[in-house]
Amino acid sequence: MVSRSKSPSRKPVPPSSKKPVPESDTPGCDCASPPLKFLSLDDALYRYVVIHRSKPRDPVLDDLRDETEKLGSISGMLISREQGSFLTLLAALIGARSAVEVGTFTGYSSICIARGLLPEGRLLCIDVNADWTAIAGRYWKRAGLEDKIELRLGGGRAELEALPAECILDLAFIDADKPNYDLYYELVLPRVRPNGLILFDNMLQHGRILDPQDESARAIDNLNKKLCTDPRVECVLLSIADGLMLCRKM
Ligand SMILES: C[S@@+](CC[C@H](N)C(=O)[O-])C[C@H]1O[C@@H](n2cnc3c(N)ncnc32)[C@H](O)[C@@H]1O
Repeated sequence: MVSRSKSPSRKPVPPSSKKPVPESDTPGCDCASPPLKFLSLDDALYRYVVIHRSKPRDPVLDDLRDETEKLGSISGMLISREQGSFLTLLAALIGARSAVEVGTFTGYSSICIARGLLPEGRLLCIDVNADWTAIAGRYWKRAGLEDKIELRLGGGRAELEALPAECILDLAFIDADKPNYDLYYELVLPRVRPNGLILFDNMLQHGRILDPQDESARAIDNLNKKLCTDPRVECVLLSIADGLMLCRKM
């Protein structure tokens, strides 16, 4: 059903070529020593994960995925289904009223976030691509969310800088150009309320963060290192899909 990478052009690093994380990278952490506690999923187990969540069948999101898949390999940019459910749950859990998303594509994650907002809640979506977000617009309407979601077509930096000073965010989801993630972090952090959340997708870069050779992987590795020692947030890197970093503002 869904064993699909989000960045189809990026091949996962084969296990044999992965460098172990140097202990100097993990001060005070014994995570280099066994026993390690994690589970490698195969297709069947992953399918089990995807099925075992509330409302696994969702006509709007299923049709949106189908339509996006017709765009070809670029559809790998969609967040995974269980990530979507997790975003809805998180938004509801914190009683989010005001959220921003950088990187909307055809709208899957935006629908998931918007569904978790309070009834009066609003989501601001930022993306540079008019064609992909036009698809999103149709599905926002179909999901009855068109009054909850506002689209700003433009670059993440300019649009975040243009947010009014009085804009206070409960939740920010960053899923756009990876080299600018740190910039987006610094732009949203002052606007996020204490105990508000900032989430970043693709924080494992399909394993390339262990030996970052390209600009995106280097940027994400640097940001992971920065976030886990940043006293302004408490964070955890969840190994869901391609890695979801969840940060709570202090
Ligand atoms: C990974 S996709 C987002 C997927 C979406 N969050 C989802 O799961 O449904 C990345 C999106 O970021 C957008 N993007 C790329 N560079 C951007 C920038 N500088 N500012 C805003 N959006 C950008 C692309 O147009 C693309 O739609």
